[in-house]
Amino acid sequence: MQQNTVDLWDQGWAPLYDDMDNVRSPNQHTAFYVGLVTPGTGSLLDLGSGTGSITAPVVEKMREGGADRPAVGVDLAPAMVELAAARYPAIDWRLGDIKCPPVAPEERFDLVICCFHTMQALRTEADMAESLSNIRDALAPDGRFAFDIYQPNRAYLAKAAAGGLEDGRVVREFSDRTGRRLRVREYSTYDPETLLFSGTWYLHDGVTDARLPLEPMDQTLRQYFASDMERLLADAGLQIVERYGDLDRSPFTPEAKRQVIVCGQG
Ligand SMILES: C[S@@+](CC[C@H](N)C(=O)[O-])C[C@H]1O[C@@H](n2cnc3c(N)ncnc32)[C@H](O)[C@@H]1O
Repeated sequence: MQQNTVDLWDQGWAPLYDDMDNVRSPNQHTAFYVGLVTPGTGSLLDLGSGTGSITAPVVEKMREGGADRPAVGVDLAPAMVELAAARYPAIDWRLGDIKCPPVAPEERFDLVICCFHTMQALRTEADMAESLSNIRDALAPDGRFAFDIYQPNRAYLAKAAAGGLEDGRVVREFSDRTGRRLRVREYSTYDPETLLFSGTWYLHDGVTDARLPLEPMDQTLRQYFASDMERLLADAGLQIVERYGDLDRSPFTPEAKRQVIVCGQG
């Protein structure tokens, strides 16, 4: 049976997350999402909030304008929710799926965010459509929904589909909290029919390169082309108000690495 990412975070990857994700220019990610907070941002919903490393600074900025502003973080992995709750107890952490976020019908949010390609965990257009529709319903009338996903890199995906990516290539090198050097090796494939890029990650010792006894983690990311996102957002009643090619707010072009999108109710 194929295990999914969320089962595997619970088996021990969660505590490694912040140290491992040293490739994502954390300052740029955080700065972008913190920069969306305005004096009128009275509430936040962070979907796929992970360890809360982006949620917390966004909430801190929001609460400069009033201590009692509600903030909710949602993640499907119990280990992530537990870790975030232990670190940032003043935020309301909930276990749930971004497809159908656990928010009450009367709850409305001024800012909804989904950071670091987490929307790509939605593997089908039907799942994405359901999620976007629920997000739209959770937005306050002038609320905004912001997210970043990768823009599909056609050459890279074609190479993956042809079996051309090196098996076991190193995709992360980092030190854990104890200073132990670790590395992650990936085995990946791409299916152009389903648009699923499936990577399996194995943890290795960074010095001896021995594979460590941690269950491999699935890192499947559904590829969403810009035209698909435009259609899916419009169908869900969401209107793009800003779009960038990366978190540094560089222009969105066909070659851009990311699709960084801010939208409001259409
Ligand atoms: C790449 S991490 C990003 C975490 C956080 N947004 C950040 O930027 O630090 C993806 C997170 O999304 C969670 N996740 C994956 N699929 C999910 C789903 N369907 N619903 C809720 N959370 C999900 C994972 O458990 C993981 O914590």
